Amino acid sequence: MSDERIIQNIALIGFMGTGKSAVGRLAAQHLRFAFLDTDELIETEVGKSIPEIFAEQGEAAFRKYERAVVNDLSARRGAVIAAGGGLVADPSNLASLKTHALVICLWASPETIWERVRSQTHRPLLQTPDVPGKIRELLEQRAAAYRQADVQILTEFRSPKQVVQHVLHQFHQARKRK
Ligand code: S3P
Repeated sequence: MSDERIIQNIALIGFMGTGKSAVGRLAAQHLRFAFLDTDELIETEVGKSIPEIFAEQGEAAFRKYERAVVNDLSARRGAVIAAGGGLVADPSNLASLKTHALVICLWASPETIWERVRSQTHRPLLQTPDVPGKIRELLEQRAAAYRQADVQILTEFRSPKQVVQHVLHQFHQARKRK
């Protein structure tokens, strides 16, 4: 993989429930970019939902699909990419995204994440009796990877619109620096 970076895209990383999809969709609209969600790309490719893939093939198979999607994304131009929450736990995925995208991490506290995800059922890793504990555990495991992003944005106390403004500003600055 070459070290050269050509910022053509935005990649939003961060934990489940930090608003990557909502923010990504809005940012894509503003930029007239395509919006791509790695989970949706996998579901289309495999023809199964994420819970089905986890249940039938296991997490390791899902992570393999993620790596394949990340490889395909390096050919994209003009896209806002929302990455699944565990995708950058594999350093090679993050390195690949950085070759073509400004990587922005969205953050929220474990308590806020819990509030945002508690009514949802589509996340296999959170189908466990102690969801707040699982959120804290996974966040701790992944924090170092998330901190490798180019830009860190705290979503707490900010509306999605305000977060989008921040994302767009950072993207324009990054492109100017080239
Ligand atoms: C996961 C996050 C999910 C999805 C899968 C695993 C994770 O994506 O990729 O359920 O490991 O954190 P979102 O972050 O979009 O919820």
